[in-house]
Amino acid sequence: MFLFIINFLLHSLNGFRILDVGCGDCYFLKKIKQKYPLSILHGIDIIYNSKCKCDGIDHIIYDGTHWPKNLGKFSTIFCMNVMYHITDKANLINHFLHALDENGTIIITTKSNKNLQNLERIHTKACELLRLDPNIKGNLVSEFCSENSQIILSKILRGTGKRIKQKFNLCSTIIASNKEELKKYFSSCYRYSINRSDYKRITEKLIDDYDIFVDYHIEQVIVIG
Ligand SMILES: C[S@@+](CC[C@H](N)C(=O)[O-])C[C@H]1O[C@@H](n2cnc3c(N)ncnc32)[C@H](O)[C@@H]1O
Repeated sequence: MFLFIINFLLHSLNGFRILDVGCGDCYFLKKIKQKYPLSILHGIDIIYNSKCKCDGIDHIIYDGTHWPKNLGKFSTIFCMNVMYHITDKANLINHFLHALDENGTIIITTKSNKNLQNLERIHTKACELLRLDPNIKGNLVSEFCSENSQIILSKILRGTGKRIKQKFNLCSTIIASNKEELKKYFSSCYRYSINRSDYKRITEKLIDDYDIFVDYHIEQVIVIG
């Protein structure tokens, strides 16, 4: 999905100001930096991640509700695989609209409800195995999935002058047939606010439970402008 966005959607963005909300470990921003070195890149998240340290990427931590002051305006705001963690989506999108240039673009991504349910199951199982408090998962509000993202976003965008301009559903199949591949897969689908050492223990425990693992994914990219 990241490659699709960088190679297909971002052609015209070199030198522009980009904000990635819920940037995680800044993997996506680093990829943009490689391809479009003149871009001005900002990432914000509610969790500090030391991997984000990178020349040319401004990384800010905030409380998830109150928008950071003096963040400025952006030509593109990304919010990828984050909306299903957010209870008050209208509040977050209003912040995006205030922080967006007049002709700016918002790009939101989400997954199919089936994939979200699968992640929920993996998480619940991991919590059982490790006897972790299930509340550490944060908010996973799976109503925001590819099946009903359009209805939710159209309601929030009504009267704002912005609308959904394009929508892509990308399919991919992931097959892991050995422990190393499986470990990579679980690491890449980390979707919860669990600290790094707990997460490492979770993946190690889960790997013992599978021989072969197949996951069919639908990732949705929504372009708002
Ligand atoms: C599933 S990860 C996605 C990371 C990255 N965007 C990606 O697609 O790989 C969700 C991220 O959203 C962050 N997050 C959760 N609630 C948030 C909020 N209210 N504002 C910003 N980020 C938030 C989490 O800390 C986590 O880094």
